[in-house]
Amino acid sequence: MPVASFDFSSLLPAGLPPAAAKWTGAARYNFIGGNNDSAQIPVDGLVAAAAAVLQREGGTLANYGLKSGPQGYRPLREFIAGKLKHDAGIVCSVDDILIVSGSLQALDLINSVLLSRGDTVIIERDTYQGALNRLKRLCVNAVGIPLDQDGMRMDALANELAALKERNIKPKYIYTIPTVQNPTGTIMPEERRRALIKLATEYGAPIFEDDCYADLIWDGQRPPAIHAMSETGNVIHVGSFSKSIAPALRVGYIVAPWTVLSRALALKTDGGSGALEQMVLAEFCAPQFATHVPRLRRGLRAKLDALMAALNEQFGTAAEFDDPKGGIFLWVKLPDQVDTMKLNHAALAAGVAINPGPEWSTDAAHGRSRMRICFASPSHDEIRDGIAVLADVCRKEFGVPARIANVAQR
Ligand SMILES: Cc1ncc(COP(=O)(O)O)c(C=O)c1O
Repeated sequence: MPVASFDFSSLLPAGLPPAAAKWTGAARYNFIGGNNDSAQIPVDGLVAAAAAVLQREGGTLANYGLKSGPQGYRPLREFIAGKLKHDAGIVCSVDDILIVSGSLQALDLINSVLLSRGDTVIIERDTYQGALNRLKRLCVNAVGIPLDQDGMRMDALANELAALKERNIKPKYIYTIPTVQNPTGTIMPEERRRALIKLATEYGAPIFEDDCYADLIWDGQRPPAIHAMSETGNVIHVGSFSKSIAPALRVGYIVAPWTVLSRALALKTDGGSGALEQMVLAEFCAPQFATHVPRLRRGLRAKLDALMAALNEQFGTAAEFDDPKGGIFLWVKLPDQVDTMKLNHAALAAGVAINPGPEWSTDAAHGRSRMRICFASPSHDEIRDGIAVLADVCRKEFGVPARIANVAQR
């Protein structure tokens, strides 16, 4: 690589996000991000699927969009339509589905279709950092609604919608992760989904349903999707294979009315999402998704149990959390004196990466002593050892927990 002497900095347009930091490797105990369990990637099945589909249809790679058009590989859309009907009650056809490069691209496309600087959207108070950051960058006002054990609180939503209306503000959408919420792990029950649809309809706001964890409910029982329950076509539904198969494949999808989908498609100027991933997924999922996912769930549940045991052993009552109903995250409340932004800094120096709460909340003060821990990618040993190191760092920095592993600290 030649020495970089050309000055690009004077050419950069205003409003760019801050420059990315160079990746220097993952922490030894890596509890961040939405990574999956490497031992649970169905490698053999994916290899066989890749060989079969390439042998049969490899020649179609000569065409952008294969022979399926710009909305994505048709057999994958057929699989998604069948799965959504069976699991989530969504009745849609392949024409209602747009395959995207991970649901992150779905967030970008839907935001581009609907949002301008200065707009207001409603979002859960504790929520996905990727959604929050995008809204911040677009200079969109994200109004956070508190959650309880059943997800977004409808009393708080009703109050907020009324208060906004009084100021003549109509939110551009209500963004929710109703089925295993990130980071709280809650599932919005059917009754509350009904109340949400009613409020959204009353105030003329669409619902943006981000359902990427819906396959990871421990008992496999999910309420119908909000998309399936609404009778007015006011729901944009987004899903992903990142959590059920593998995030590096970068395959997600949008289910929305054509008025929205056609706009998203016009903005999706990448020549189509990666075709090989779509082909392999379709070939693998049609026969094997239904057996793969329960196995994955069992493995994740065992890791969650290991994490909760480690936290109980190392932090005792200082770490408060609800047993999430599925997913890959635990949302942990530490005592008020713990600032998780500072804890994160000190923990990283000791080789432990956590997601500090303020980065996952519209209300930094609420997130201050909270942290999100991903339990899917570390091994059982890493979970046990990493939480022990984290407790040690936390005690040194904040005097919490006072006792570690039931041994009083001097
Ligand atoms: C709620 C939510 N939405 C979207 C995404 C993005 O997922 P992907 O782009 O891998 O589909 C994530 C990833 O963690 C997420 O938690």
